[in-house]
Amino acid sequence: MKFFLDTAIVDEIRQVNEWGLLAGVTTNPSLVAKSGRVFEEVLTEILAIVDGPVSAEVMSREAQGMIEEGEKFARLSENVTIKIPMTIEGLKAVHHFSKKGIKTNVTLIFSANQALMAARAGATFVSPFVGRLDDISQEGMQLIEQVATIFDMHDIPTEIIAASIRHPMHVTQAALAGSHIATLPYKVLEQMVRHPLTDQGIEKFEADWKNALKG
Ligand code: E4P
Repeated sequence: MKFFLDTAIVDEIRQVNEWGLLAGVTTNPSLVAKSGRVFEEVLTEILAIVDGPVSAEVMSREAQGMIEEGEKFARLSENVTIKIPMTIEGLKAVHHFSKKGIKTNVTLIFSANQALMAARAGATFVSPFVGRLDDISQEGMQLIEQVATIFDMHDIPTEIIAASIRHPMHVTQAALAGSHIATLPYKVLEQMVRHPLTDQGIEKFEADWKNALKG
């Protein structure tokens, strides 16, 4: 399973990119609003840092508007991935971009049928939202398992991005469920690095080393 960063904060992307594991970035309108910046500027900066797909979400509700917004984003780089909500209009736009070889990420997926439809319309990625299902007392990870099973069974090349990830356990579960990618907030990625026994181990090695040098 690959790691994407789910943020519109350029500094977080720059930092994680240095860790050597960053395979892509997803943004959404709420994350962009939180960054307090103009989206086109942020997107251009992200594309200059990341060597992988960068999702930029369209705001139109109609296919034609989605296509116009998406084509503008797509001119910036071949890494741009047009993020499109799971609606009938969205499916039409996905089909359009698929024919043109432009990557798409169908977002706000909450059922296996939605994922299957998006894939058949030509989506490069689908984003099932795990945490938001958990929030309404449905097992979000079961959706990842279902979609992974269906895509595998029917040889569907669309990649699954486990989205709305809230904590490190979600990440392990998504990997075990067969997700190709998990898109993570910076905080979760940072939490995943840490283990108290790692910290203790480093302290102990250092103390032993210093004692040995004292002779
Ligand atoms: C994914 O592409 C979305 O940007 C994101 O994962 C949504 O997460 P949230 O439910 O924590 O807002």
